[in-house]
Amino acid sequence: MNNYSLPPFKIKMVEPIKLISREERIERLKKAGFNPFRLKSEDVFIDLLTDSGTGAMSHFQWAALMMGDEAYAGSRSFFRLEETVKDITGYKYVIPAHQGRGAEQVALPNLIKRPGMYVISNIHFDTTRAHVELAGGRAIDCVCKECFDLELDYPFKGNFDILKLESLIKQKGKENIAAIIMTITNNSAGGQPVSLANMKEVNRIAKTNGIPVVIDGARYAENAYFIKLREDGYQNKTVKEIAKETFDLADIFLMSSKKDGLVNIGGLIAIKDNEEFFRLCQVRVIPMEGFPTYGGLSGRDMDALAVGLKEALEEDYLQYRLDEIRYLGDKLQAGGVPIQYPTGGHAVFVDCGAICPQIPFDQFPAQVVCNELYLEGGIRAVEIGSLLLGRDPDTHENLKADKEFLRLTIPRRTYTLEHLNYVAECLIKVAKKGPQFKGLDFVYESPILRHFTAEFKPKE
Ligand code: F0G
Repeated sequence: MNNYSLPPFKIKMVEPIKLISREERIERLKKAGFNPFRLKSEDVFIDLLTDSGTGAMSHFQWAALMMGDEAYAGSRSFFRLEETVKDITGYKYVIPAHQGRGAEQVALPNLIKRPGMYVISNIHFDTTRAHVELAGGRAIDCVCKECFDLELDYPFKGNFDILKLESLIKQKGKENIAAIIMTITNNSAGGQPVSLANMKEVNRIAKTNGIPVVIDGARYAENAYFIKLREDGYQNKTVKEIAKETFDLADIFLMSSKKDGLVNIGGLIAIKDNEEFFRLCQVRVIPMEGFPTYGGLSGRDMDALAVGLKEALEEDYLQYRLDEIRYLGDKLQAGGVPIQYPTGGHAVFVDCGAICPQIPFDQFPAQVVCNELYLEGGIRAVEIGSLLLGRDPDTHENLKADKEFLRLTIPRRTYTLEHLNYVAECLIKVAKKGPQFKGLDFVYESPILRHFTAEFKPKE
């Protein structure tokens, strides 16, 4: 224990959770079409589906809710949020959105001006990829080679491959690149951080070629703390200073505030200084999300977010946050479970291709292990592999992910280390049985973002 920091908070309110019987879990999973997304949360004991909007708010945030100004236009809550975002980012324009994908649907079509334009990211998050494609663009991932060498001890596995980025721009033509999106932390790579040195290179290349830089910064505070821990020259800077230096390297900030905003709902668009782009977003936000001073949020949501954004930059909180993820990763590794190492900021990513090598990628090995983990301990995890990646938009072939990950996503300030011990015990047991598991066939598959609603049956 001594190697891990203690939680800088105590518990003031509790929500009961219950482990239903194994027989009930078998029945519920079958009813859910072998897709944990379709389970009722009351049938889940420990819910590690996502860290998005699932965290606990502080008493300061709950108090701020009471100050919400619910005016349709020009709410005081908006101005409190705007001031906080301007202070953290140094950007001039702020527009709220109901969550990250709300911000994406407003901002991305204003960047993708012609069908067929490309967007390059270290790795696009799935909704970001979907919004690029819905706007007629094509999403290309450009992550460093170290990323998928799971055992390699490399400090910034979320980084861009800079040489590949340069050659992609040459190959596709700079006029055909709508934007470069820096996803920090790099969620799909395991919540892996991106270094400031790497972001400086991305910014330099983008500026040379006249391409806008977007930060997809759902977990920018966790990224900044990794930089403080791991990047030379940043040990004596505050996380807020590091975050500011990060924002200086981009033009637009899109955020799902359900992560490092420490709220249950919320999103943000912030724009450094491009007034024309701000106007375009203002035009789109009204029909898509709401009037530009609420963007789909209530006044109280904006007040809770204004406080949460500040709390997420507190360093004792961030130290504990990264430590609890590392704690679970260490337990799993000690039990022989293959994981993305070192662990990232919000989750432990488990390599299910290695746990059940007999299952082909298009029978979704990580989904199979998710289901087994639910049956074993009532724990809900999520697949981040070929199921999530989907099909090629042109050929409709199943795409093969680099890794078949199961993600154990840890909600913020929510579970104790005892819960994490239990998760590790259950998954270690499941992983040992991996070679006996069988794959899955689709019963229903939606045309886009299929993992949310898909239904399966196990192979005979
Ligand atoms: N960008 C990143 C990097 C994300 O991780 C997410 C959401 C979004 C954008 C979209 O934000 O959900 O508020 O609309 N990630 C969640 C997850 C859902 O489970 O990783 P949203």
